[in-house]
Amino acid sequence: QVMFTACELGVFDLLLESGEPLSSDSIAACLGTSITGMERLLEACVGLKLLAVDVTQEGALYRNTEISTIYLTKSSPKSQYHMMMYYSNTVYLCWQHLTEAVREGRNQYERTFGISSKDPFGAMYRSEEEMSKFMAGQNSVWSICGRDVLAAFDLSSFTQIYDLGGGGGALARECVSLYPNSTVTIYDLPKVVQVAKEQFVSPEERQIAFHAGDFFNDSIPEAELYILSKILHDWDDDKCKQLLEKVYRACKPG
Ligand SMILES: C[S@@+](CC[C@H](N)C(=O)[O-])C[C@H]1O[C@@H](n2cnc3c(N)ncnc32)[C@H](O)[C@@H]1O
Repeated sequence: QVMFTACELGVFDLLLESGEPLSSDSIAACLGTSITGMERLLEACVGLKLLAVDVTQEGALYRNTEISTIYLTKSSPKSQYHMMMYYSNTVYLCWQHLTEAVREGRNQYERTFGISSKDPFGAMYRSEEEMSKFMAGQNSVWSICGRDVLAAFDLSSFTQIYDLGGGGGALARECVSLYPNSTVTIYDLPKVVQVAKEQFVSPEERQIAFHAGDFFNDSIPEAELYILSKILHDWDDDKCKQLLEKVYRACKPG
């Protein structure tokens, strides 16, 4: 929660922009918070090694550590800010019900958000704003490891690729950049495809196409390669089998 709050208040962004260590009073003044609250938050960040502190004649001056500059500032190419906000506003709320989760052996979306746990995306997509934050968060992970994952195998012989549940398209973008002869079609729920087109993938990115559909209830078109990235963990074994069988039937032979 300390990390989420420091991200949300913009502590790491401010310290990056300032270019020099700042006192807790200045940080509180710039971010419009209480002085005591900010002082305690900054000390907790130091304890977590998210900030470093220099004790000078003017008092304690705080600066970002390398890890917070790289991962927690909004402007960094490897920023995980959106993922932090998603964890803070959605995932972390569910942890309040860990006891019930262990007793019942199921996720706690229903208790937390009043939405059936059979539909995990109903909770994540409870508003367009939440959906957009979720998509931005999912995208941000690929700035760290997308290229390594896609380069782990030589995929250059595949030209027609479907990214099932491709969301905001960060992996598709990495894929077409690494394999310039490929076209990646993002297959996702209609409202996700709409937001992806509006906010995440520009029409100039011609090697990225879209297919709006539900991979359980609609058909999956033929392709040479299917990406299922961070998909199977969302579903029980029966659903996973159902999806993998559909992919097997749709996949171009050879
Ligand atoms: C955890 S996200 C992973 C996003 C992306 N593949 C990635 O690796 O960043 C799961 C994705 O599956 C999509 N999804 C969930 N149910 C779906 C369904 N029935 N049909 C198509 N896509 C679905 C979600 O909208 C979301 O984009």
